[in-house]
Amino acid sequence: MRNLFYKAIILFLVGGFVMSCADNDKPNYQFMPDMYEPIGYEAYGEYDVFQNGQEAKLPAEGSIPRGWMPYDYENTPDGMANAKANLNNPLPYTEDNLNEGKQLYTIYCAVCHGDNGDGQGILAEREKILGVPSYDDAGRAITEGSVYHVIYYGLNTMGSYAAQTSEEERWKITHYVMNLKNELEGGEEIPFEEGKEASIAEANPVEVERAQENAEEVQGEGAVTGEEEEQNNN
Ligand code: HEC
Repeated sequence: MRNLFYKAIILFLVGGFVMSCADNDKPNYQFMPDMYEPIGYEAYGEYDVFQNGQEAKLPAEGSIPRGWMPYDYENTPDGMANAKANLNNPLPYTEDNLNEGKQLYTIYCAVCHGDNGDGQGILAEREKILGVPSYDDAGRAITEGSVYHVIYYGLNTMGSYAAQTSEEERWKITHYVMNLKNELEGGEEIPFEEGKEASIAEANPVEVERAQENAEEVQGEGAVTGEEEEQNNN
């Protein structure tokens, strides 16, 4: 009986000695490693199973970012003529849209085109840039479509504003430019359209759905509001 008692103590000591070598920071012995090691791929990792050996793929052809709509008219004289004849402003002509258009116009366009659109902006006055037309130039006969097209692609020495502005902002600027043209021509004040959806998003059911989805997704993330996310997308 006593013998058994000593044996138990020795077994306990040896056991304790062996256990003390275990390192809790490392995984234990793995019998079936496949069950432990995931085969998920690291973002941007190199793996032979993929084409080009790259985990990161290019988007499928024809995919577009959320909230961004492709612009169908080509950057050619034909494309411009086509936009000039067929493209219309989807935003209603409201006081808000016009005022926002004015702000954006003052930021981006007035340096060359002048506050009233006569082509006498500060850069034109100082001859830093030549050939800035007045918006009532009869030979150009600008339309909503042609204005949007020129903001999107630029024209000769005028650069493109597609990177600085969203689709909606470009249409607001367009409203303001057409308003300036009308003033230069001495036309009667254009009446505001009321009671219509005030933005492209509101006029487009798909956009409304997206905006709701976005709002649900970001709920709880605190800092990001739906509006900010829309700006990021653009
Ligand atoms: C750096 C100076 C400059 C700025 C800034 C600028 N433009 Fe222009 N814009 C020009 C010049 C120069 C032309 C004449 C281009 C030509 O016909 O070769 C022009 C032409 C135009 C035309 C006439 C296109 C036609 O149908 O012939 C419109 C409309 C126009 N700009 C709108 C805008 C708007 C809107 C903005 C702001 C988003 C803007 N521009 C900013 C220099 C500028």
